[in-house]
Amino acid sequence: MMPLRFILVGLGARSRIWRRVLHEHPDCRLVGLVDTDDRRLVEAARESSQAAGDSATPFVGATLDEVADSVDADVALLCTPPGGRHSQIAAACSAGLSILAEKPLADTLRDAEAHVAAADEAGVPLAVGLNFRYLAVTEALKELFSDDRLGPPEFGRFTYERWRDGHLPHLNKYPLTMGQPMLWEQSIHHFDLMRFVYDAEPVSISARTFNPSWSMYADDANVGVLISFTNGIEVTYQGTWAGNWQQMGFEWRTECQRGVAVQREMFGNLGYAFRDDAALSTVPLRAEEPWVDDARGLLEDFVSHFRDGTPLPCSGADHLNSLRMVEACIRASSGEGTVRLNEL
Ligand SMILES: NC(=O)c1ccc[n+]([C@@H]2O[C@H](COP(=O)([O-])OP(=O)(O)OC[C@H]3O[C@@H](n4cnc5c(N)ncnc54)[C@H](O)[C@@H]3O)[C@@H](O)[C@H]2O)c1
Repeated sequence: MMPLRFILVGLGARSRIWRRVLHEHPDCRLVGLVDTDDRRLVEAARESSQAAGDSATPFVGATLDEVADSVDADVALLCTPPGGRHSQIAAACSAGLSILAEKPLADTLRDAEAHVAAADEAGVPLAVGLNFRYLAVTEALKELFSDDRLGPPEFGRFTYERWRDGHLPHLNKYPLTMGQPMLWEQSIHHFDLMRFVYDAEPVSISARTFNPSWSMYADDANVGVLISFTNGIEVTYQGTWAGNWQQMGFEWRTECQRGVAVQREMFGNLGYAFRDDAALSTVPLRAEEPWVDDARGLLEDFVSHFRDGTPLPCSGADHLNSLRMVEACIRASSGEGTVRLNEL
């Protein structure tokens, strides 16, 4: 069977993971590289040749239009900043390329809706890189909510407190100056995880965003949210990129019919307890390499969609429901009060 041929657009921090998992996957081939930064193009082309051999050197260029015109491909993998992807989506649609776009699909809800509509009109599948759904801890947490274990969740508290030094050389720089960086870049993962593990959709949101005096971000690095989901689930969420301690704080506790589930680290440390238990029981998790194995899991499902006709994972249309949560937080915080999601 022909491998699925990818053009990778945007060769920054995140693209490194994708280049690695694409090179390793027997059914995928990297045939094109796109970046507006010449230096990154040269470096990525050199590294790709070293990984795959000179005969498989990808075609390089500054625009997706140009590269898609020059090489036969199946998929455009967008690893660019989320703002201003219109020309990349248009180029993929006109070349008939399927799209796998890094989260968030856009940095406004309206742009994301336009991208989903454009892909739909062109008949190209559009998936979004929500790799955290594929972490072992996420899968195990979701399983805890089954009827024969803790039972359905009713309320939860999710805290994410991080000192994110956005000036570190290996990190992207655009969040330093974008609007609402915490919400668009980080909370979007958390909102998606809530919808995924609770198997519920948001109904209404109250929120407050702000920026502490020591924040290095131009816009709000802090958010506090109250979320009501279908099935009557209530969640209190607090997220920050300007927590004033180098040590990461992460805790996601969910109260269920028969007890609690507690995740204490982003990539593991999951426990549960029934109401009368004296201590949490640890849930054993498979060993994994964070960021890499979860990207592999997503890629596997994406490839299966084309190979075996399985459902497209993390579709753009589904992602809009998480982006609506971001939009609702922004509106609620700017004075609209409690925002109902079906009004967005
Ligand atoms: N899923 C995850 O866990 C995860 C982790 C990190 C980043 N991301 C996402 O990946 C995306 C990229 O993030 P990053 O950290 O790699 O950013 P980055 O700034 O490190 O890299 C972006 C690259 O895109 C290039 N670029 C910008 N505009 C372009 C254009 N119009 N055409 C071609 N190239 C262009 C830049 O030159 C740069 O090389 C973002 O959406 C981010 O949220 C996802």
